Amino acid sequence: MSISESLETALNDQIGIEFESSYNYLSMAAYFEVNSWDGFANWMHMQSDEEREHAMKFYHYLLDRGRDVVLPAIQAPTVEFDSVLSVFEASLKQEQHATSTINRLYKLALESDDYATVSFLKWFIDEQVEEEKTVSGMIDKLKRAGDNPETLLLLDQVAAARKPDSGN
Ligand code: FEO
Repeated sequence: MSISESLETALNDQIGIEFESSYNYLSMAAYFEVNSWDGFANWMHMQSDEEREHAMKFYHYLLDRGRDVVLPAIQAPTVEFDSVLSVFEASLKQEQHATSTINRLYKLALESDDYATVSFLKWFIDEQVEEEKTVSGMIDKLKRAGDNPETLLLLDQVAAARKPDSGN
C-alpha cells in the first residue's frame, strides 16, 4: 500500500518544520556565541544538528516508500533575544509545536490505515517527550538562577558538556 497524497504532503511539510527548527536553533547558537555563552551555543548547535537529522529521517522515509520529496519554503529565524532564558523558552515553544505536528501526522496515518507510517512516527512521538523534558529542565534551572552570574556560568558549563544523542 502506498502513502496517500494527503499524508505525503503532510510528511513533506514536516521536513520543512524540522529544517525550520534546525535553522532557528542555529540562529540561537549564533546569538549565544556573539554573547560569549559558549556552552549554550554548543547546546544549540547539537540541537540544530538533531533537527536536521529529524528532517532527513522524513526525507529518506518518503523516498523509501516511493514518494516524492518536495521541500517546502521555510521562514527566516528570529535573531534577537532578550536573555538566555528567553532563548530556551522559544526553544520549548518550538518543541511543543513540533509535538503537535507529529501528533497530527500520527492521527492522519492512523486514519489512513497506513501502519508503516504509524510505526515510523513512533520514534518521533518518544523523541518529542524527551526533547520537551530536556528543555523544560534547563528552563527550570535558568529560572532558579535568575540573574546570578555564577549560577548562569555553571549552567553554561553544563550545556557545554552536552554530547550528540545516539540514535538521532
Ligand atoms: Fe525535531 Fe526537536 O523536534
